[in-house]
Amino acid sequence: MSEKIGILTGGGDCPGLNAVIRAVVRKSILYYNYQVLGILQGWRGLLEYGLTEELNLDKVSGIIHRGGTILKTSRTNPFKVKDGVKRILEKKKSLGLSAIIVVGGEDTLGVATKLFEEGVEIVGVPKTIDNDIWGTDYTFGFDTAVNIAMDAIDRVHTTAESHNRVMVVEVMGRHTGWIAIEAGIAGGADFILIPEKPVDLDKVCDAICKRHARGRDFSVVVVAEGAKIATEEVDQKEEVLVVQDEKKDAFGHVRLGGIGKLLASEIEKRTGFETRFVILGHIQRGGSPTAFDRMLGTRFGISAVDLVHRKEFGKMVSLRGNKIVAIDLKEATSKAKRIDEELYEIAEVFFG
Ligand code: F6P
Repeated sequence: MSEKIGILTGGGDCPGLNAVIRAVVRKSILYYNYQVLGILQGWRGLLEYGLTEELNLDKVSGIIHRGGTILKTSRTNPFKVKDGVKRILEKKKSLGLSAIIVVGGEDTLGVATKLFEEGVEIVGVPKTIDNDIWGTDYTFGFDTAVNIAMDAIDRVHTTAESHNRVMVVEVMGRHTGWIAIEAGIAGGADFILIPEKPVDLDKVCDAICKRHARGRDFSVVVVAEGAKIATEEVDQKEEVLVVQDEKKDAFGHVRLGGIGKLLASEIEKRTGFETRFVILGHIQRGGSPTAFDRMLGTRFGISAVDLVHRKEFGKMVSLRGNKIVAIDLKEATSKAKRIDEELYEIAEVFFG
């Protein structure tokens, strides 16, 4: 009987997930004669019944260009479910899985790290549009999100210029400003606000005023959803995180979003320039992956299966330079990868 491995995708979806699934299935079946079981809806698929399906070459044919994940996803945290870990251990056994490939971001891989410590044979694959997983130069999904955000900034530019307005573009990025910085620099933003670098609003407004005084009477400001600013309504020194919903998910995260609106109203109030805002939201996570993300997802998927074959468990595949290497899941999930100081310094050259 051939060995059977499982694969699941958890957390927020992102473009490139189907490329990973396709690569895992083809390499497993064609090179190692494994059976592959798709576990549906992230960790929920190992807690409930009826959430698995066998994956064959046919099932993964024609999916590389598709966004999202054919395995579906959820933000289920087995450590918050009664007897969650016990149920997962039993389910893995009853399904006859010799290993599980877990494709996820900080939360899903955090669970994978702990389950590996409980004895589950796991290999991790990092995904997130936020690009904030420690130990890998890039996660797939990020390049697509940056290109979508850059395109939006380009579009906002022409309308800002026609109306002599300030336009604020809010992008995703819960703990880090990778999308904001890269899309902002590439899109020619006049100021970029990110979670790693809280700035005084006066500095933002000064930069805009300086630019308008030079005769460039429109500006584009990019802000990451997780950036914090001080407002007049609260203590000037206290920075506020703008949330859509205080309710926490299974991993303790609130729903962010809305800082763009607050920022736009503060800029208009302080500078007198007419200001509008747009929130890109999930548009950044949807649709077809770029070639870079299809390639990275494919390379990650192939390497993950090779790690399973070599029985190197408790590892995460990662991109270092142009090589795919394996690092300990424990190290990868120990902290977030924040933006490089030198990247911020490059962005600053174009402020104002
Ligand atoms: O973690 C990726 C991410 O896209 C964040 O940038 C964002 O804050 C969050 O997911 C949104 O999650 P949801 O789709 O559950 O609202």
